[in-house]
Amino acid sequence: MSLLEVRGVSKFFGGLAALNSVSFSVNKGEIFGLIGPNGAGKTTLFNVVNGFYKPSKGEVLFNGKRISNLKPHQICRLGIARTFQVVKPLQRMTVLDNVIASAFLRAKS
Ligand SMILES: Nc1ncnc2c1ncn2[C@@H]1O[C@H](COP(=O)(O)OP(=O)(O)OP(=O)(O)O)[C@@H](O)[C@H]1O
Ligand SMILES: [Mg+2]
Repeated sequence: MSLLEVRGVSKFFGGLAALNSVSFSVNKGEIFGLIGPNGAGKTTLFNVVNGFYKPSKGEVLFNGKRISNLKPHQICRLGIARTFQVVKPLQRMTVLDNVIASAFLRAKS
């Protein structure tokens, strides 16, 4: 079983197909690259895997469990983290508090 599986994912913005039936899988320990020209859909795909966007079609599985119906913080708790193309710290918090918020993700309080 693959660690991450993207199955037939499409994402439409109005009439624009940013992703059109994208499928791939990533195994445990594998380093997987995604390349493409500007506007190819790389960031959109990250946003779908991460739960920022719901796919218009298809699904994403992590450890065999469907995650494309979950919210970003739920997906993050399962073990999928991401960085942003344009850095997005929590602006009203200090650098230390930004790090703490991530580090204590699984803490109860
Ligand atoms: N929220 C949005 N609303 C409408 N169109 C969008 C939205 N996000 C992305 N797009 C469009 O979807 C397509 C894919 O964009 P995306 O940002 O995913 O490409 P990218 O591969 O990350 O590009 P880059 O290399 O410039 O970062 C582009 O045509 C873009 O204009
Ligand atoms: Mg991008």
